Amino acid sequence: MVDKPAVVDAYKVEGKVDYDQFARTYGLKLIDGELEKRIEKYAGPLHFLLKRRIYYAQREMGWLLDEYEKGNKFYIYTGRAPSHEMHVGHLLPFVMAKWLQDKFRAEVYIQIPDEEKFLAKDAPEPDAMKSLAMDNVLDIIALGFKPGLTKVFLDTEYAKTMYKQAVRVSKHITFSTMQAAFGFGNDSNIGKIFYTSMQAVPAFLKSVQEGKNVPCLIPLAIDQDVHFRVARDVIGKLGYYKPASIYTKFLPSLDGLAKMSSSDPIGAVYLNDDPETVKKKIGKAFTGQQATAELQRKHGGDPDKCVVCQYYRYFFEPNDAKLKKILDGERSGTLLAGEHKAHLAEAINAFLKAHRAKRERAREKLDKFMMRD
Ligand code: TRP
Repeated sequence: MVDKPAVVDAYKVEGKVDYDQFARTYGLKLIDGELEKRIEKYAGPLHFLLKRRIYYAQREMGWLLDEYEKGNKFYIYTGRAPSHEMHVGHLLPFVMAKWLQDKFRAEVYIQIPDEEKFLAKDAPEPDAMKSLAMDNVLDIIALGFKPGLTKVFLDTEYAKTMYKQAVRVSKHITFSTMQAAFGFGNDSNIGKIFYTSMQAVPAFLKSVQEGKNVPCLIPLAIDQDVHFRVARDVIGKLGYYKPASIYTKFLPSLDGLAKMSSSDPIGAVYLNDDPETVKKKIGKAFTGQQATAELQRKHGGDPDKCVVCQYYRYFFEPNDAKLKKILDGERSGTLLAGEHKAHLAEAINAFLKAHRAKRERAREKLDKFMMRD
């Protein structure tokens, strides 16, 4: 059977994603040794997400670092549209944003488009989603963003600032461009057609606010690129720098499919799953191991297919030597599924416990982070 081609767009990710093909199709450059060295020159040892090529592709990083070398510091922009509680996979852009903030002392803008999933999916109205949105913000801030160097905003609360800029973007985007990029048609509501203009704004907002051009770097998952493919040229036309970006792959879902999906709660570990739920979910995770321990010992497994291995690689084992031991154990057949999963569940539960404590502490300083009109 031939696999159906994967779908990767802003509102649907399905099937087995071919990341290199995605990069070729849309003209992303792969992250290579040369870029690694340039980043390391300023940041020190690379974050494991870059080293392991989970962040694997980029636009304009060469330019961004040229500017940095000239003393032209960049800021970072990423975001999260609330619709559900967050799962571990949702943290990947924010983990990178936080690392970049620390290493480059960069300011971070975080957009919480609380209208996006209402317009594009079936999420409730922004007001009804406010507490969920603020919960998402706590999960993000809990990663350790610096107050004073981090600005978070809900679109509906920062609307006066955002709208003024969004209309400038929208004037340069035609319906036919949006139709071609997103597959919109005559039956698409006009809110989601406009929305891309809102997502474009924080990529140049700091330049507006400072009255001079400031380079911007966006860490994002590949499904979000479509907004910026549309917006990049417009941002240039308005006289601002086009943003640079680095792209992460998706944390695989527990059943071994392309992406953790919020609409499939079994496939994802949520940040508020209790220890028992985590154990149960990880217990069902796909490893691809053989039917019996004997066969597994004889034939070994494939760490690239084993979701438990991939969870360590993406998130739960930052130490390369320890990761290698785990992957070797899977490959050679010495690490059997039961033990493998039990350890991962422990690692996840330890992370979640610490995360929840940080989340409670973040609650107290929430106001230091929020921008409102
Ligand atoms: N559209 C993103 C989502 O569905 C949220 C988002 C807003 C975002 N601005 C961004 C993502 C910038 C990456 C970069 O969650």
